[in-house]
Amino acid sequence: MPSVDSFRLRPLAETDLETIRLWRNSDRVRLNMYSDHIIIPEEHRRWYNRIKDDPRWLYLIMEYDGQPAGVINFREIDRVAGSALWGFYLGRSDLPRGSGTVMGYLALNHAFMVEGWRTLSGEVLDFNEPSLRLFRRLGFDNIGRRDKQLIRNGRLVDIILYTMTAGRWLKRERPRVEALVQKMAVAGTPMIRP
Ligand SMILES: CC(C)(COP(=O)(O)OP(=O)(O)OC[C@H]1O[C@@H](n2cnc3c(N)ncnc32)[C@H](O)[C@@H]1OP(=O)(O)O)[C@@H](O)C(=O)NCCC(=O)NCCS
Repeated sequence: MPSVDSFRLRPLAETDLETIRLWRNSDRVRLNMYSDHIIIPEEHRRWYNRIKDDPRWLYLIMEYDGQPAGVINFREIDRVAGSALWGFYLGRSDLPRGSGTVMGYLALNHAFMVEGWRTLSGEVLDFNEPSLRLFRRLGFDNIGRRDKQLIRNGRLVDIILYTMTAGRWLKRERPRVEALVQKMAVAGTPMIRP
């Protein structure tokens, strides 16, 4: 994998809208989200108008080699308590192995070192193994599950809950994950996703 320096975060821009609508509508992404219907341009535009100036939301694009590669969102942002929920996806399917881990690493650095929040939480559908593995790899604490929250393919799905605190990230997990992403860069393993 290339160096972590090939990746960077920047704010979502209006010019990204169609790219991220297409990514969000891909089966790989939408089937792992709470709402899995196909989003038409009008709905997407309404969503964008709703979130763009709302301080409870923050959308970032992860770029790889200067090109949009993934999306990170922070929601339910409480700037007084210093807490937020996050979500994410890799948009492109040709990204090198480890890109998901780098995205998590950059998102956590942003939450705790740029925004200065105290807690970041995440929610994962119980069948989403790659995401569950990513939360564990990043060192999130599994704080429980909400049973039987939605139905997918005729099956009741639980939501797995994770949290990370600033102290835990900065002292313990960040150095470990940083070493991991550096190691991946050296290993240089390519990966094509389905
Ligand atoms: C969730 C998501 C970001 C995870 O991405 P990912 O491709 O698994 O992340 P990585 O690129 O870091 O990992 C790819 C593989 O490389 C491996 N890898 C990662 N870091 C590694 C390291 N340091 N050394 C060796 N292998 C490593 C991972 O273990 C993974 O392999 P695995 O699938 O056998 O576990 C991605 O699957 C995605 O965008 N999914 C769709 C949207 C989604 O589900 N979003 C989350 C909603 S909660």
